[in-house]
Amino acid sequence: MAFPPSFIDELVARNPIEDVVGQYVTLKRSGSNMFGLCPFHGEKTASFSVAPDKGIYYCFGCHKGGGAINFMMELEGLSYPDAVRALAKRAGMEVPEDEQYQSRYRQQERLWALMKEAGRFFHAALYSPEGKECLEYTQKRGLSKSIITRFGIGFAPNSWNSLVTAMKAKGYTDQELIAADLVGEKNGRIYDRFRNRLMFPIIDVRGNVVGFGGRVLDDSKPKYLNSNETVIFNKRKNLFGLNLAKKTKLGYLILVEGNIDVVTMHQYGFDNAVASLGTSLTEEQATLISRYAEQVILLYDGDSAGQKATRRAIPMLEKAGIHVKVLQIPDGMDPDDYLQKFGADRFKMLLDGSTNRVEYQLSAIRGNYDLNIDDQRVKFMQEAADLISSLGSAAQREVYGNRVAEAAKVSFETMKLEIAKAYKRRQNKQRKQQEAIDLAPVKALQPKSRTIRYDNVKSAMAEEGILAQILREPAMLDQAGSLKAEDFSVELLGRVYAQLLDRYKQGLEVSLSVLADMTAEEMNHLSAISQRQTGPVSEASFRDCVRTVQTQHESKSVTSDEDLLAFRNKLKERKGTQQ
Ligand code: CTP
Ligand code: MN
Repeated sequence: MAFPPSFIDELVARNPIEDVVGQYVTLKRSGSNMFGLCPFHGEKTASFSVAPDKGIYYCFGCHKGGGAINFMMELEGLSYPDAVRALAKRAGMEVPEDEQYQSRYRQQERLWALMKEAGRFFHAALYSPEGKECLEYTQKRGLSKSIITRFGIGFAPNSWNSLVTAMKAKGYTDQELIAADLVGEKNGRIYDRFRNRLMFPIIDVRGNVVGFGGRVLDDSKPKYLNSNETVIFNKRKNLFGLNLAKKTKLGYLILVEGNIDVVTMHQYGFDNAVASLGTSLTEEQATLISRYAEQVILLYDGDSAGQKATRRAIPMLEKAGIHVKVLQIPDGMDPDDYLQKFGADRFKMLLDGSTNRVEYQLSAIRGNYDLNIDDQRVKFMQEAADLISSLGSAAQREVYGNRVAEAAKVSFETMKLEIAKAYKRRQNKQRKQQEAIDLAPVKALQPKSRTIRYDNVKSAMAEEGILAQILREPAMLDQAGSLKAEDFSVELLGRVYAQLLDRYKQGLEVSLSVLADMTAEEMNHLSAISQRQTGPVSEASFRDCVRTVQTQHESKSVTSDEDLLAFRNKLKERKGTQQ
């Protein structure tokens, strides 16, 4: 990584973590930490911590953590250099760009510019003589001229080289056209990928054209041809229409299936419609949505695929902290059909009648049973009780419990008992899970990450102790003696130790937030260590840790199960003496 370390130091110093995070999260002070609702996962109680003195954040719920640069990378989906650039801009600093970064950044900029040019080309082609048939198709589909302009909709001519020729004339190279996935390649020659299609530009929330979806003008297959992922296009992190819908005044978003549905809805005044890009909703998209809306109405097609997609999307959105409602349009119509046939007013009535997700799920459960048969009625009650027992509010439990009781023709008292039983089952299950964690401290000591493993837990604990103390008191490094990175059993911890030591010797800042070359996962893990270890810093305990690491390294023994057992008992003892 080629930003000079001193530049990164200044950058981090001029972007205090609490200010950077504070732009997105409301923080409340509690001791030396600040707490708020985690922006990376949905939650109602604040488990997201910021440590201004350490310059890091860490979420005790989802285990994400790092410094200001990581925060920007994670939250805005930026690369390391782009996060640095964003923070530099925030602090009014000039970025010393080196060759390599410049060229990478330039490539991105070139691709954005190329995609915008391609979008303009397609849009103009719609109004050219060759676009006549496509323009007629848009009219047949009821799209107005102004909505076509607002979405930048266009036409890819029925030719193998019209886009290639136009873009080359503007100075773009074969490589750039390939990198943007606008062309195919055969025998060393490139050709237009999108031919004779109605083109929908996919625009990210920052307003860049990052991809296209192209629909055929008849019933031929495949119906859509979509851009594949490129340097500037990540399908999991974009939604069609969000660039416009994020500005809606309606206060919630509507998630639909098709591009055409989105466009038609905007045309009829529902400027809060978005669609995932021909794939099922991803966690990243749910998180993205949660940044712009607290509520989402799911409006998927009524067929079985649409219902399945709805079932999948509900927990994903709720996990991101979004309140979910579900709407199903009668008679298997999609929003486009419905609007064209009945207009905005009737559609609005439909929206107002959309049920919350509990009602939706209850009616889905009900649909699975024949309530005239006794034993099916019992099963229906049990499954419904399961769902109801998971609701947080007593009022909700009563309302829905009553409804199910009525449907199953039993008394509310009986239903209440079922709900209580279901609640106990759930509690038991959770307790068992917790016990499994408590009874396996060795396993629990393993990092949450999937790629970082502790093979020698004893040494690893000491290594964590060393880093945690250094991060709070860099002068501890004077006590490190002959400790080397190679002595560490965990490669990551050794590497960090070496970087910190190096910085200390050079008189540079010693903290997590300035580390270079770390993956997000590594950073999460390091932040966890730093926030978890809160015992006092002392030279004696520091030297203790150093000694442990060095002797473990010398004996080179991979700790056996018995060692782990002994270690576990010792930990338990230690816990006992603390209480
Ligand atoms: N899709 C896709 N590839 C296909 C079919 C669909 O990527 N072969 C994606 C497109 O993003 C499309 C969405 O899935 O917008 C929903 O599909 P569909 O409802 O068939 O398309 P619409 O855009 O709604 O078009 P139409 O109203 O003409 O059916
Ligand atoms: Mn459709």
